[in-house]
Amino acid sequence: MGSAVKPALDVPRIDKGLDDIYVKETSICYVDGQRGRLLYRGFDIQDLAQHSTFEETIFILIHGRLPTRQEFAHARSILAEARAITPDVVRLLRCMPSDAPPIDVLRTAVSYISNFDSERDDPTRAANMRKAQRLIAKVPTIIAAHHRIRNGKRIVPPDPSLGGAEDFLRMVTGRKPDPLSARIMDVALILHADHSMNASAFAAIVSASTLADLYSAIVAAIATLKGPLHGGANEAALRTMLAIAKPEAAEQYVLDTLRNRGRIFGFGHRVYRTYDPRALILREYARQLSELRGQEDLFRISEIMQETTVRELKAKQIYPNVDFYSGLVYHLLGLPMDLFTPVFAVSRVSGWTAHVIEYWDDNRLVRPLDYYVGPTDAAYVPLEERP
Ligand code: CMC
Repeated sequence: MGSAVKPALDVPRIDKGLDDIYVKETSICYVDGQRGRLLYRGFDIQDLAQHSTFEETIFILIHGRLPTRQEFAHARSILAEARAITPDVVRLLRCMPSDAPPIDVLRTAVSYISNFDSERDDPTRAANMRKAQRLIAKVPTIIAAHHRIRNGKRIVPPDPSLGGAEDFLRMVTGRKPDPLSARIMDVALILHADHSMNASAFAAIVSASTLADLYSAIVAAIATLKGPLHGGANEAALRTMLAIAKPEAAEQYVLDTLRNRGRIFGFGHRVYRTYDPRALILREYARQLSELRGQEDLFRISEIMQETTVRELKAKQIYPNVDFYSGLVYHLLGLPMDLFTPVFAVSRVSGWTAHVIEYWDDNRLVRPLDYYVGPTDAAYVPLEERP
């Protein structure tokens, strides 16, 4: 057996979660974790949630400015026309096991469609902008088509005359949503579109830094979004609320979980030390929808969880994050739980592509170091001499 390396006198500082490491300059997104502010290209998320649309937000993220009216109409129609998916993709979706997690199916399908994009390996900025639009447009259609297929239902093709959020709900449920539901979906997509150098955006950057193509970077991002510490938290948060079942049980659930050193999903954040501004906007929509759908108890459970967790974890500055309310909102919009993380991807693909395109303007291969602490003199024994 070999011995462990003797720690050098100057052991390097190891930043396991890269908490304090800046990996690029950016003008895409700014998160002010102390004041609870979120800006896309300088525009406050509160203004965008109130006045903008997801399509306009995509333009802002990718192009870095507000579109003119003509540019907006043009960009909107390009996205709407690109929503359609080909019979090859539908065939692939039909091949998936019926119990495959939709986020895994999405990851596979995005990888698959890259093979049909004649511009896949064109590294120019203009080609990447076009690929970004195609990806943003097709992700919702893939998710909706797979959802219909796994439920034995007819696929609902996209309707380019509708906005993306409204059409997505229609393609999933088979019904045109009411105007409030369509608007809430639109706002949820605006709110999730980007969030600076989070784990999935970083995964996209790592892949992109090797000069792999845009699709490869987005596949890496989708794979990274899946985990319950990132995009999977919305599903975990709603599961908790449904398991609590009664408002009277909510406070005790939180106290028991914290006593056992468990995590309350949908709370805490690496950057925010106060309320996540996206959570505050979605909370109000959750309240409205719960009243409309006669599910006030569910909202009450979330309120008690929120009050108790914030009270108990005040010293650690733990507050609800966007995922605490997005799961609740999607549930009240009639979306099944395992679509919550894919819906996150519907929106976040706009931020991922913006980050990759920005990074490629000044690319550098991501290649960090790890500090070796294993043996240095392990003796190799040939297989035939081993027991
Ligand atoms: N419930 C209970 N305690 C918590 C929570 C939570 N949700 N979050 C953090 N803490 C405690 C944690 O136990 C630790 O306490 P101590 O110092 O006594 O050991 C302290 O707060 C700091 O926690 P940390 O894990 O070192 O902080 P972090 O910056 O690594 O955590 C986080 C960030 C998001 C991983 C974490 O807050 C968490 O696990 N939250 C639950 C999952 C979740 O909601 N994720 C969605 C994140 S936001 C959307 C996104 O980016 O995808």
